[in-house]
Amino acid sequence: MKTSYLFGIGAAAALVVGSVAWNALQENAASAPAPPTLDQIAFAETATPSDAELAAVYDRSCRACHALDGGGAPLTGHAADWRARAEERGGLRALTVSAIEGYENMPGMGLCNDCSEGQIVDLIEFMIGEEL
Ligand code: HEC
Repeated sequence: MKTSYLFGIGAAAALVVGSVAWNALQENAASAPAPPTLDQIAFAETATPSDAELAAVYDRSCRACHALDGGGAPLTGHAADWRARAEERGGLRALTVSAIEGYENMPGMGLCNDCSEGQIVDLIEFMIGEEL
């Protein structure tokens, strides 16, 4: 009687621990964006802002990292990655702060020290494909 009672508690505890671990796994799966598709990688390689001045800034500052898959930077046009980042930072606007101040391997101002804040916003909007 006593043994089966203890076994019951043990089994219940194992169930609780198991379901907590399962939930954690589910949450990780939900927050990690799907990797870019081949189409998205091809798009990022050629995408250029339509405004000539912004295109020039993009080419000399952001393109080297954000148009190349596998370097750790979110790809231009890979919406799922940008959206997941925005959610983690507390909104699309917060990405502007990351870009200006730098974030992990992302250098401050994206190596464009003469960029205005407005240009940084425009560049992020171009890479995300939506307005901040
Ligand atoms: C030297 C490479 C490099 C350059 C140049 C660069 N970035 Fe990044 N950027 C990165 C990397 C790497 C990340 C991902 C950082 C991480 O999550 O570890 C990133 C992430 C970002 C993010 C998301 C930050 C966050 O909070 O997750 C924004 C916004 C961004 N870059 C904007 C820009 C803009 C705008 C430019 C051009 C003006 C630019 N970057 C130029 C490497 C670069």
